[in-house]
Amino acid sequence: MRILSGVQPSGTLHLGNYYGAVQQHIELAEGADGPLSTFYFIANLHTLTTLHDGARVRALTRDVAVDYLALGLDPSRATFFRQSDVPEVCELAWFLSCCVGKGLLERAHSYKDKVARGLEPSMGLFNYPLLMAADILIYRSTVVPVGKDQQQHVEMTQDIGQSFNAAFAREVFVRPEWRFSRAPVVPGVDGAKMSKSYNNTIPIFMPDDMTEAKAFKAYFASIKTDSKGVAEPKDPNDVLMTLYRLIDPGAAEEFAPVYARGGVGYGELKQRLHRAYLDKFGPFAQKRKIIAADETYVEGVLEDGARRARGIAREVMAEARAATGITVAQGTHA
Ligand code: ADP
Ligand code: TRP
Repeated sequence: MRILSGVQPSGTLHLGNYYGAVQQHIELAEGADGPLSTFYFIANLHTLTTLHDGARVRALTRDVAVDYLALGLDPSRATFFRQSDVPEVCELAWFLSCCVGKGLLERAHSYKDKVARGLEPSMGLFNYPLLMAADILIYRSTVVPVGKDQQQHVEMTQDIGQSFNAAFAREVFVRPEWRFSRAPVVPGVDGAKMSKSYNNTIPIFMPDDMTEAKAFKAYFASIKTDSKGVAEPKDPNDVLMTLYRLIDPGAAEEFAPVYARGGVGYGELKQRLHRAYLDKFGPFAQKRKIIAADETYVEGVLEDGARRARGIAREVMAEARAATGITVAQGTHA
């Protein structure tokens, strides 16, 4: 079994990323057999589909690396690397693109949503699922832990791998399966899916210069509710309670009947939620400061990960090249 997932460094990681993906990634690495069983990478090549600011891409890539390490990813138990450190994925994406009909990519919800929101329909955005398929197939990944929005991309990967194997009559690639966390769709402060692109996120880590009071005002106070008064019964499954259940399940279960009965205002639950958030992520934030200051350590982790990941990618690419008849001069692909 090989578990693999990627997260784009296209913005600051938020609670949707954490409960939908990152938390599960870290737990799966804890339970796996060793670093070759769990692969996580920072999908910086994918980020070029939406972000054209070199300094920002570089900084966000590093931020995601530091976030994962601060949140508890143990680099001796997982292979953690930057997508761009394995250039073979781009070569494989080309091979795959030659075995896949345009219609498959035209059906991608994510592409359609992004274009509907006004993003430039670049070839990179259109080909996004091909690069993602290459990411998954090149390491012969079998389990891909993601949030619900990525399910279709993994299903497309199943078809794409199969098309390549059928086209060249060789079983080069194995079939990956998606896997959801306990929270496949975490709501944002407006009740829609929490997403960097919808401006409705609560970050896992607040900016260093933001006070607790400011963070409360900017993120927790703005969570959308209806206008029920303090005395009225409330929905124990609303956005506030959904987030509370994720952050502190025990306290949320105790609080739910009180909330449903009435007598507690939205303001009070927002305060409780903020407190639960600080208790949960405060210690990670402390750890994050220490890791962020150690540039050499972070870079070392990513370099080690890249070496391991690239070793596997090269072996699989050699098989893919053999199947396609593409030859490379000895020693030029070291
Ligand atoms: P965003 O939608 O903010 O751009 P990404 O697409 O970079 O987030 O997602 C990174 C990982 O986090 C993916 O596995 C994705 O499915 C998961 N994820 C993102 N937002 C949510 C959410 N609101 N609920 C559950 N999982 C999510
Ligand atoms: N598309 C994923 C996202 O936006 C990131 C990603 C890129 C990925 N390649 C992947 C996820 C391979 C899982 C496997 O979240």
